Amino acid sequence: MEAKHKQRLEELAAAVEQQLLTYVQVTPETQRQAKVVEAMRYSLEAGGKRIRPVLVLEFCRLCGGTQEQAMAAACAIEMIHTFSLIHDDLPEMDNDDYRRGRPSCHKAFGHAVALQAGDALSTAAFGVLIDDPVLEPSVKIQLLHILVEITGAAGMIGGQIMDMAFETRSDVTLEEQEAMCAAKTGALIRGACRLGCTAAGASAEQITLADQYGAKLGLAFQIVDDILDVTSTSEVLGKPVGSDAQEGKVTFVTLLGLEQARQKAAALTEEAKGLLAQFPDHEFLLDLTEELLMREK
Ligand code: IPE
Ligand code: IPE
Ligand code: MG
Ligand code: MG
Ligand code: MG
Repeated sequence: MEAKHKQRLEELAAAVEQQLLTYVQVTPETQRQAKVVEAMRYSLEAGGKRIRPVLVLEFCRLCGGTQEQAMAAACAIEMIHTFSLIHDDLPEMDNDDYRRGRPSCHKAFGHAVALQAGDALSTAAFGVLIDDPVLEPSVKIQLLHILVEITGAAGMIGGQIMDMAFETRSDVTLEEQEAMCAAKTGALIRGACRLGCTAAGASAEQITLADQYGAKLGLAFQIVDDILDVTSTSEVLGKPVGSDAQEGKVTFVTLLGLEQARQKAAALTEEAKGLLAQFPDHEFLLDLTEELLMREK
């Protein structure tokens, strides 16, 4: 990635992180429940890549909006994502003890607190949008609508259920796997793109294009995640490797093999980049899209 783009990515991620920790703090109202707030902050501040919030901020900018207009939605989607990771790591799901370079939330705080921290993050996401001081009420409703759709049974949560159902099947097809990943991972990534456009008051055409870009990127992103589970190390990834095989997951690597999985991710990345051509000033996003294909964690 070009040095100036890398710097920009770091600046955007830092701005999101600062705002997230401002939103999630122990207050007089939560003093007696400080443990759950600590657990929420523990998982939030562990430092993920912040890809979804960066997509929100960037699509908002490309559609003529300001960072201020996009920040609540950016933080909201990172809260939903972090909630999904906390629950994803529980023994009832992927049973992973390590996340974002530190013990998983349930390892650090116990299972009950981790469950509650995930739940509280999911509702906090809606809260920050509702309470945002700059967004127009009509825009808030549109953003909330997107957030509901991408999080629930038709989105990420539905995908997680399919993911688990596939563990006990030996006949999962590539088409089914793609549909599952479109939900468990694609929904939030597509949603991030749409949230950014919507916060800026973008046209329906722009939102559709951003959504198509997000669908391609989301699938490529999960394919690379599946590849890294086989090829990386836990030190680099900040989460366990070999976890998918241990849980008997169907992945793009088990379905296609490493080489074809790589080719598929590369082809989707090219298609995603092609869709950016219609947005002005898209060089950073172009570079980021490529970087996500080449990423090591
Ligand atoms: C991990 O997402 C879960 C997937 C959808 C593959 P990320 O790779 O974005 O995780 P963080 O946010 O960087 O920790
Ligand atoms: C996770 O997919 C998608 C979520 C909704 C959390 P994975 O289970 O592959 O994510 P990692 O590899 O644990 O981050
Ligand atoms: Mg999982
Ligand atoms: Mg997992
Ligand atoms: Mg994975």
